[in-house]
Amino acid sequence: MNVLLLGSGGREHALAWKLAQSPKLTKLYAAPGNPGIGHCAALVPLSLSDHAAIISFAQEAAIDLVVVGPEQPLVDGLADALRDAGIAVFGPSAAAAQLEGSKAFTKALCDRANVPTAAYARHTDAEAAKADLPRFGLPVVIKADGLAAGKGVIIATTAAEAEAAIDDILGGRFGAAGASLVIEQFLEGEEVSFFALSDGTTVVPFGSAQDHKRVGDGDTGPNTGGMGAYTPARVLTPELEARVMAEIVRPSIAGMAEAGTPFTGVLFAGLMLTATGPQLIEYNVRFGDPECQVLMMRLDEDLLPILHAAATGTLEDRPIRWKDEAALTVVMAADGYPEAPRTGGVIRGIEAAEAGGAQVFHAGTRNSAAGLESAGGRVLAVTASAPSVKEAQAAAYRAVDAIDFSTGFCRRDIGWREVARGKVDEVDRVKA
Ligand code: AMP
Ligand code: GLY
Repeated sequence: MNVLLLGSGGREHALAWKLAQSPKLTKLYAAPGNPGIGHCAALVPLSLSDHAAIISFAQEAAIDLVVVGPEQPLVDGLADALRDAGIAVFGPSAAAAQLEGSKAFTKALCDRANVPTAAYARHTDAEAAKADLPRFGLPVVIKADGLAAGKGVIIATTAAEAEAAIDDILGGRFGAAGASLVIEQFLEGEEVSFFALSDGTTVVPFGSAQDHKRVGDGDTGPNTGGMGAYTPARVLTPELEARVMAEIVRPSIAGMAEAGTPFTGVLFAGLMLTATGPQLIEYNVRFGDPECQVLMMRLDEDLLPILHAAATGTLEDRPIRWKDEAALTVVMAADGYPEAPRTGGVIRGIEAAEAGGAQVFHAGTRNSAAGLESAGGRVLAVTASAPSVKEAQAAAYRAVDAIDFSTGFCRRDIGWREVARGKVDEVDRVKA
């Protein structure tokens, strides 16, 4: 099969790395890609917003499957355009991508399909929104309705903060994404990411992960796209996973099909494990970044036939095979991230880092006359697997320390929750 992979981040490098290992692969192309992806695929200089150019290229290169990494082209209808041209694509239609593109759309689906989620109200008028606040109590969550790159969510601990957030969003701080807002009940618990693949009707679990959204050690500082992740997330026990599938994922996939907007691709559920059970925080319609990096490291079968089956309505209803290991990734970011990342910083030592078995996935990198340099906020995702999260963490940081990127930084505590849980287990074992 010839495959075209779209995107240019660490997520796409991980997908390219895994696809490149497929015995079923004839040729892998990636657009626009990055230098790391260039090691596993032929790079094509296509813009993800130029749907006509992507279709022409796919036809010329006899592409059998297009894999779309990021959400924006899906929300913009790229998968529809490819399907209309008769090209198989892994990723949902624009209508189904509203699960990520519009929080109000997802809330309406939750109502119809009886999916547990925080109570909410949608508003376009600031005075009406403020008048509605008291019934939600405090803290309260205020969100811009549209895509705001993860930045349009405010957790307000006082009424004054909540009112200011309402004015901010409806006042245009997040542009069109804030034409309307959602007020949500605050959910208490531990957060976990859960992935499921669907071809529109069949749906199979595709692993769990936890990421670290805050920029600083100890979960401090501003939110980012994700500073690190690990899989599996053991807080999501097999019993809880079964509940997530039965109460959240399956009813959502069925509800989408009933509405005439079947979901195909990967459904990424952000969940809160509350005292009364798992609740949906949000859906994304693509793999997480950096969650994808750890999932690919742990996947114990060929990715290509699975994605092709999801894209063509032939997904088998069977468990996916995973290595009996944990995987952990540490994001190395450019100084100044997330506000103003400094680009052009020299990066050396990737081969030394990989010599110990780690995989260094490129995100914001570029080639220059001086060699590899930083070209974005999140620059590398240094990924390792091992029998336990603790060992995977040690292996990932050994690899990080072999990399010479003096204008970058990383968190030193990725996986802390899981490592702490592991310590409790060790104590239990000693006691037993
Ligand atoms: P979202 O963009 O909807 O994923 O929200 C970003 C982050 O805000 C989530 O990852 C949670 O940490 C937090 N969050 C969102 N909604 C809620 C909620 N209803 N209760 C508690 N925390 C939330
Ligand atoms: N790491 C979170 C995300 O990809 O949305």
